[in-house]
Amino acid sequence: MTLVYPSNPPAVVPPSKAPRPRLAFVGTGYLGATYAICFAELGYEVVGFDVDEPKVAKLAAGQVPFHEPGLDELLRKNLAAERLRFTTSYEDVADFGDIHFICVGTPQRADGMAADLSYIERAVTNLTPHLRRKALIVGKSTVPVGTAEWVQQLVAKHADPALGVEVAWSPEFLQEGYAVEDVLRPNRVVFGIKSDWATAMLYSAHKGVFELATTEDREVPVVVTDFATAELTKVAANAFLATKISFINAMAEVCEASGGDVTMLARAIGYDARIGNRFLRAGIGFGGGCLPKDIRAFQARAQELGVGEALRFLYEVDLINQRRRQRVVRLAAKLLDRPCGPAGPDLSGLRITALGATFKPNSDDVRDSPALSVVRKLARTGADVVVFDPEGTENARQAVPNVLYASTLGDAVTGADLVCLLTEWEEFRNADPRALAELVRSPRMIDGRNCLDPALWTSAGWTYFGMGR
Ligand code: UDX
Repeated sequence: MTLVYPSNPPAVVPPSKAPRPRLAFVGTGYLGATYAICFAELGYEVVGFDVDEPKVAKLAAGQVPFHEPGLDELLRKNLAAERLRFTTSYEDVADFGDIHFICVGTPQRADGMAADLSYIERAVTNLTPHLRRKALIVGKSTVPVGTAEWVQQLVAKHADPALGVEVAWSPEFLQEGYAVEDVLRPNRVVFGIKSDWATAMLYSAHKGVFELATTEDREVPVVVTDFATAELTKVAANAFLATKISFINAMAEVCEASGGDVTMLARAIGYDARIGNRFLRAGIGFGGGCLPKDIRAFQARAQELGVGEALRFLYEVDLINQRRRQRVVRLAAKLLDRPCGPAGPDLSGLRITALGATFKPNSDDVRDSPALSVVRKLARTGADVVVFDPEGTENARQAVPNVLYASTLGDAVTGADLVCLLTEWEEFRNADPRALAELVRSPRMIDGRNCLDPALWTSAGWTYFGMGR
């Protein structure tokens, strides 16, 4: 059933008897912290829980442990308004919450492609024995289809059966760098439910989102559905986005072989509204904490369900994505006039500057970052690699300690034989090619994100190479 927020949503009195349901977010990583802060901003009473004491202390002191535009300010504002607090006590959370959103991580398992559900299991089995009244447990983490049913079984086993604790699933779709907007102004919300009570509770928990939309004359579509469809919505959306990116990167490979320009091609096909022009930026491919692991976990789950063949294309999507990273190294060898054998080129004695380490701009996240993967590959060629990233240096240094890190763009490019733009930060897109040409040893640029104007850079004396053009 799809509907826009009804003018008369089903009424419900929260188990705590508070005027609005009290919301708990279990797991204050990227997802949980953002949700907790934004729902406090929407006027709810909120508690954020984590087992990580230093993280909870940081949040309680008004510091967001990661970089997300706009979030710091909202955190401090809502702590001051006493709508928001953080705890490491399951008892406290159980006592407080009417709705417990499970926001813990579901990383890729070390032994294969499937998702590791141990954090979900721990959160549910540790929380539910402390519940003393009815509550709704809502999964938000990205999970393999079937997880909500399993969570329901865990709840049945660990919560007092007399309380009638229920389960629902409501996936999130937030993009790093736009997370505050995506939570306050979602393009849709999805409720996977089994009862009218759960639906009413979820409407009530999202009333703030709908009211904000009404004041701004927007609509928020609500999809009310079963558990499996709700769980699949998230992985299907991410699989589609990953496929779109790998599709255009496959076209980049064909352009490279045939003399075409993939940026013009993307523009030309994107005018067809059925195709659309978003997520068609060819470059060094996708990364981050979601798309790569989600397409792998989706394949693993499809195998278990006996429909592995249906998602075999996602294996190709992953391979295309990995090939883009290697392509930068081969281009580097070509531009630097060094042979590239099967073991890769020897670029020792050369200085290569990598602009960007994070998986995308406006984030300090380096999880499965294509930029950092290229940095690792370049370091393996024997070149002296210098990295500069406006926000991600600290995280990058931990992940790849064996390269140099510069603290300004100017320092980073000074003396470079080659510059590789790997994350399209605004600072790089707006850089002055003439000024930078003065600093490098040799003005060669690989634009791994196709975000620079080739004519401008060429006229400033640079040998410019884009991806797929
Ligand atoms: C993604 C989904 O967009 C979001 O809905 C979901 O909730 C979580 O996963 P995020 O990981 O924040 O969000 O990043 P996104 O903006 O989707 O970008 C993913 C990667 O794809 C980045 O590395 C980005 O650089 C790359 N990308 C994106 C491209 O290479 N080309 C494009 O055209 C778009």
